[in-house]
Amino acid sequence: MRRMMQQNVFEPIGFIESCFKERFGTPRQPGLVPSSWGQLRLRPELNLSEALEGLEGFSHLWLIFVFHQNMNKGVNAKVQPPRLEGEKTGLFATRTPHRPNPIGLSVVKLDRLEPGLLHFSGVDLIHGTPILDIKPYVPAADCLPEATAGWTAARPERTLQVEFTTAAVSQFELCFGAMAARAQGAVKELLELDPRPVFYRGTGDNPNPYTDTYGFRFDDYNIVYRMQGALATVLSVQPWAEYLASKDRR
Ligand SMILES: C[S@@+](CC[C@H](N)C(=O)[O-])C[C@H]1O[C@@H](n2cnc3c(N)ncnc32)[C@H](O)[C@@H]1O
Repeated sequence: MRRMMQQNVFEPIGFIESCFKERFGTPRQPGLVPSSWGQLRLRPELNLSEALEGLEGFSHLWLIFVFHQNMNKGVNAKVQPPRLEGEKTGLFATRTPHRPNPIGLSVVKLDRLEPGLLHFSGVDLIHGTPILDIKPYVPAADCLPEATAGWTAARPERTLQVEFTTAAVSQFELCFGAMAARAQGAVKELLELDPRPVFYRGTGDNPNPYTDTYGFRFDDYNIVYRMQGALATVLSVQPWAEYLASKDRR
């Protein structure tokens, strides 16, 4: 008997507002940048005062979401996760966003609940990500101390040393005000992980042939840093609108 493929249509329960605005500079997993922040604005018609009842007692949540920036992209059976530095492995042995069904799963720390708005830290999602569902993280069911980590066990996450110029520290204060220490912390945690794609890193004695200076959008600011070996130095923080205007003038 031929089986009919059932089509399911899901409507997001809300959308993420995140300090990460583009793929470059977004951490590869939740919790790797604990100082990062994001919030989920839920659809008001979900009867939120009742639907969220009891959630405040949980410290962490699972977010099930759509990799909306990856729709209609090709999928390969083997992929190159950044930590394998050029080697390939099966897509289902990775958390790649390039999947047959572009659905992601992240555990985040629930910091605060407001009516219709959930505040998190430790996110790995881009601003605008559609959320399909949230579920409480239940330690008795979800925490498995005996779990093994496959190929990831031998691959350390943190590799770079990060410094800030005096000018950059002042610009963090000017741009982020009361949030300066947290924003600077998030950028440090992020750069320690080396967000560059493998082909931009170079290998051994052969440094990246393209550039040593990188920029990415973090919140509403453009962050510029320079790489020298395993040292990342943050050079400047500039409002994103100012950065765009200066690009137009060039
Ligand atoms: C490796 S995936 C892991 C996501 C999730 N924790 C999982 O395991 O399903 C994380 C990366 O997905 C990318 N990403 C995050 N939100 C996205 C979105 N809405 N659309 C496409 N890519 C996204 C970012 O580049 C981020 O570094």
